Amino acid sequence: MTDEARVMSRVALPEETQVERQLRPQRLDEYVGQRAAVESLRVSVEAARRRGEPLDHVLLSGPPGLGKTTLATIMANEMQANIITTAGPSLERGADLMGILTNLAEKDVLFIDEIHRLPRVVEELLYPAMEDFSVNFVMDKGLNARTIRIPLRPFTMVGATTRPGMLSSPLRERFGIFHHLDFYSGEDLTAIINRSASILGAPIAPGGAEAIARRARGTPRIANRLLRRVRDYAQVKADGTVTPEVAVRALDQEGVDEIGLDRLDRRFLTAIIENYKGGPVGLDAIAATINDEAETLAEVVEPFLLKIGYVVRSPTGRRATAAAYAGLVLLVAGHFSGKVPWLGRLPGDIHIQRGSWTFYFPLATCLIVSVVLTLLFSLFRR
Ligand SMILES: Nc1ncnc2c1ncn2[C@@H]1O[C@H](COP(=O)(O)OP(=O)(O)OP(=O)(O)O)[C@@H](O)[C@H]1O
Ligand SMILES: [Mg+2]
Repeated sequence: MTDEARVMSRVALPEETQVERQLRPQRLDEYVGQRAAVESLRVSVEAARRRGEPLDHVLLSGPPGLGKTTLATIMANEMQANIITTAGPSLERGADLMGILTNLAEKDVLFIDEIHRLPRVVEELLYPAMEDFSVNFVMDKGLNARTIRIPLRPFTMVGATTRPGMLSSPLRERFGIFHHLDFYSGEDLTAIINRSASILGAPIAPGGAEAIARRARGTPRIANRLLRRVRDYAQVKADGTVTPEVAVRALDQEGVDEIGLDRLDRRFLTAIIENYKGGPVGLDAIAATINDEAETLAEVVEPFLLKIGYVVRSPTGRRATAAAYAGLVLLVAGHFSGKVPWLGRLPGDIHIQRGSWTFYFPLATCLIVSVVLTLLFSLFRR
């Protein structure tokens, strides 16, 4: 993986496990954003606690790094229960799940990550476990085969998935609570960065967190990672404080662009624009063009581009919007402005700050650049 791919990677990097755990909120009150989900879970937890019952089974879906594992841990903490963590692909045989289920204590939380990747046989074992808190175990084979019903202690199952559409409907229907996590607003990411900076003991100046939030692709995991990179840069190349200027310099150096798009996002957009004249084009065609899997694009690339309005979905396929064209032009301009500092910053160039977004209308720059280009073209024509 190149360094740029690493810095914007949506999945946790191997060395990040420790620091992710350190930065993970432990209670609902510390969990920033996703207000609808948090409020609804707060009510469910309180109601279950008053009844003295385990919480209903919860299914959490959403793109990587938005806080599914974090919420699962919080559920267990709020219920004062233990959490037992496993993942769909690691439960290969029914016996693997059987062992875990029969060892659960009352009200324990069983967290199954990537639940859409559970093998069929294991999934079928889960149905009675979730519904009646029992499992049917088949003894012997052939004529002597018989099933024994093994009762389980009432537990809470929390499933997490990046692909809710891939869950079979019998499994989906057995969850009582369903929440989809969406990308975070600039304000929420700013709050997350400030919180993480105080845990890490990194001094942060006003505006520093906003500058990082703007490039974090709506994702807390990326926000925390960028914060750590900027903190290192501030310690080595500045006085240790994360100021907006230091953040911009550090992230420019890391190759993170001003909108927080990563290489795959940019390839996806340029494929639609360059190869298919802006669309509409089917996902499979884009996947073939950029040599990636349509599934990955649907799961981890498209949601964010839809969210920021760079792509729209229509019955005939995906289309790049005017915002995407403008965004890519800005990225190219931004790239050059690092080398030609006056580009985009001339008197007459307009900057509008809206929340965490900055809109640039480099009017004077465009005028000068187009005059220069026209002169050059006419010179070459002669
Ligand atoms: N709402 C939040 N408030 C504060 N920090 C958060 C929040 N959501 C996530 N984080 C931070 O982001 C990191 C990644 O979150 P988490 O591991 O829960 O993501 P995930 O959705 O489980 O991702 P994956 O799909 O890759 O498993 C956590 O370590 C945590 O520090
Ligand atoms: Mg997770």
